[in-house]
Amino acid sequence: MTETTSPVPAADAAPATANQLVDDLLERIDARTARVLIVGQGYVGLPVAMRAVDVGFEVVGLEVAPERAAALQSGQSYVADVPDAQLRAALDAGYRAVSDAAEAGPFDVAVITVPTPLRDGAPDLSYVEDAATTLARRLRAGALVVLESTTYPGTTDELVRPLLEQSGLRAGDEIFLGYSPERIDPGNARWGFVNTPKVVSGIDEGSRRCVEAFYGALVDKVVPVASTAEAELVKLLENTFRHVNIALVNELAVFSDALGIDIWGAIDAASSKPFGYMRFTPGPGVGGHCLPIDPSYLSWRVKRRLGQTFRFVELANEVNEHMPDYVVTRAMTLLNRHKRALNGSRVLALGLSYKAATSDWRESPSIAVVERLQALGADVRACEPYLPDAGGPVLPAPVVDCTPGELAAADLVVLLVDHPDFDLDEIAGHARLVLDTKGVMRPRAFVGETL
Ligand SMILES: NC(=O)c1ccc[n+]([C@@H]2O[C@H](COP(=O)([O-])OP(=O)(O)OC[C@H]3O[C@@H](n4cnc5c(N)ncnc54)[C@H](O)[C@@H]3O)[C@@H](O)[C@H]2O)c1
Repeated sequence: MTETTSPVPAADAAPATANQLVDDLLERIDARTARVLIVGQGYVGLPVAMRAVDVGFEVVGLEVAPERAAALQSGQSYVADVPDAQLRAALDAGYRAVSDAAEAGPFDVAVITVPTPLRDGAPDLSYVEDAATTLARRLRAGALVVLESTTYPGTTDELVRPLLEQSGLRAGDEIFLGYSPERIDPGNARWGFVNTPKVVSGIDEGSRRCVEAFYGALVDKVVPVASTAEAELVKLLENTFRHVNIALVNELAVFSDALGIDIWGAIDAASSKPFGYMRFTPGPGVGGHCLPIDPSYLSWRVKRRLGQTFRFVELANEVNEHMPDYVVTRAMTLLNRHKRALNGSRVLALGLSYKAATSDWRESPSIAVVERLQALGADVRACEPYLPDAGGPVLPAPVVDCTPGELAAADLVVLLVDHPDFDLDEIAGHARLVLDTKGVMRPRAFVGETL
């Protein structure tokens, strides 16, 4: 049973035909006869598709990369959170992955989950534009389109809407349009797609009701907001909040070390405050598709629209981008204290992905650390239990198993990702020197330092 919060103010009464189309779509969503098309089958789109199949919709995944569509169609998932068994069950239930829109068939609900990267520091919305243009060619009256890709406030209404209206159908009258930000946290076993509340919005009341009904069928709780721009801002607020707070503890970690104070002890103690404090911890920088990119969408919009600088975002970028260099400096200093130079030393890097328990390497600061260590003459090997599939990023260093022999053979072990698979006691017992950038070795006795 779906629960909703915060009522949305009613918009002006829609024309009868629009009301009729809304009612028809709501009925079809309720009866699970609405045909669903998910555009983009990546980290976000594939789990949405799987869930839509689970609750009984007929679902097609439109994935522009033919090799990805073929892999999905043959039952092979490249998204860690979607096991092959789940994909195969979905295929048995009628899910199809296609790379050509002509094979997708008609749809009643389309969800856009395509990348929104930065190009030369500015939002690159070309994937969203392509997806909306593709949908416009196949739109029918009464269909709903929802954008899920992270983007700056205004995109749904100002960019996607006119592209869809090239179909000749008017948004709000003949087709419906909304935005719902994705909150997926790859590798998070506690909070998944279904139990994480989903923010929903529409360009008008009818659209919002359709978006709310569709996601209400997929997740435990939906949170309606008053406009698509507000929903777009929600996602950027959440990610900017994390980005800025991580930058705060990263900068504090740098100063605390210089002052001879244990930042981790201070963080632990501050975390005992039951109100008004949220725990963030230092590390080698931020990675993934969200934190290094999304806040810049917001600062770009602020600059473009208001001519002003979003100073918190600029500062957080600067601090977080400096962290890989800082880790390398700490590695050099630590080796130096033990009478060794980084140049020529054997370094074992533990973890290459951007965070624990995921094979997502996008924007990973660990890669930046490894490349800088190599540039300074270190002989780097890496342990990574979550290797990306073939066709993924090129490995920056030879990957070896994290054995006692490898640990003991390294002049320095740098723990960059706190994968649950790493045996911390074994690392403490066999490594000659450790730089722990995640603070996970702290309860143990080991030779080395924590960031
Ligand atoms: N990965 C996350 O943890 C996460 C979390 C929240 C939000 N997001 C946002 O969701 C969006 C998608 O991210 P992702 O991580 O799923 O990206 P992804 O790269 O894993 O997947 C996107 C897929 O879309 C495909 N694609 C691109 N253009 C297409 C088109 N025109 N038609 C069909 N397919 C197309 C790509 O080939 C790719 O497979 C981004 O805006 C991202 O910021 C991601």
